[in-house]
Amino acid sequence: MDKPRLLVTRRLPDAVEDRIRRDYDAMLNPDDMPLETDSLLLMAQGKDALLPTLTDRLDAEVIAELPETVRIIATFSVGYEHIDLKAAAARGIVVTNTPGVLTEATAEIALLLMLGAARRSYEGETLLRSGHWEGWTPTQLMGQQLTGRRLGILGMGRIGQAVARMARAFGMEVHYYNRTRLDTALEDGARFHEGVESLLAVSDVFSLHCPLTPDTKHFLNAERIALLPDGAIVVNTARGPVVDDGALIAALRSGKVAAAGLDVYENEPRLDVRYRDLPNTYLLPHLGSATVETRNAMGFKALDNLDAFFAGNAPPDRVA
Ligand code: GLV
Repeated sequence: MDKPRLLVTRRLPDAVEDRIRRDYDAMLNPDDMPLETDSLLLMAQGKDALLPTLTDRLDAEVIAELPETVRIIATFSVGYEHIDLKAAAARGIVVTNTPGVLTEATAEIALLLMLGAARRSYEGETLLRSGHWEGWTPTQLMGQQLTGRRLGILGMGRIGQAVARMARAFGMEVHYYNRTRLDTALEDGARFHEGVESLLAVSDVFSLHCPLTPDTKHFLNAERIALLPDGAIVVNTARGPVVDDGALIAALRSGKVAAAGLDVYENEPRLDVRYRDLPNTYLLPHLGSATVETRNAMGFKALDNLDAFFAGNAPPDRVA
């Protein structure tokens, strides 16, 4: 049998591309140029499968224009809000994602953001690199200690649970809201809240771990920020649009929110520039899953799904 014809929209780690070249008749993107919709549609001509990433917008219009030959889209991401699942299903196109393999890497970044925001890392590093550091003082850049603080987790899925486990090692008291309550064993002492309001009220540190859906868009707005304890810390490793940027920036300016650690932004990579001018933000460029182990595992998982599909089996991570 001929190898399936695959369009890979971005450059992937070497080990992943080696396996792609071995098993697929692949069109790769060695220069890693983000593909405009027109180019993507052109390159998709004659392909059996697409391996896109979260930088490709596969909305209903794009899906409607995909060639008849495309039967599966295996995204290199756990999030799939960039793909219109209904439109894909309507055309009989299978969609898969890469759950499970980015849990620990993303949880590590959440802890990094928590510490970075709480301990004023940006200000400390800026002072040092500017050459203006005049030495230790008893009151210099005093931040907040995580130990003993209450961590509120919105969305207690795999990543939320990993963050809870790591935060416990820092002596934090874990609270959470999730659509369904976890088993006691999985809760491991974390306190369940029936509603988001009571969770927000106890969140000295509030960390977002929910997917982006129409329901969670701009979840953290001015009204909900007002419920947080004064001087709370906000951490976002989920998706930028879950936060209302205007509201968070106003709260960072007033001190209602003492600091924010952010890895994701609305309209990436054109984040709201006001974040960059705030000293009380600790900002990373969407690095949640960016470890060699995890990026390899994500690529292998996308390929496992494609391999299963073309072998006539059910892809393990089918979402549509
Ligand atoms: C990363 O943000 C992902 O969804 O995989």
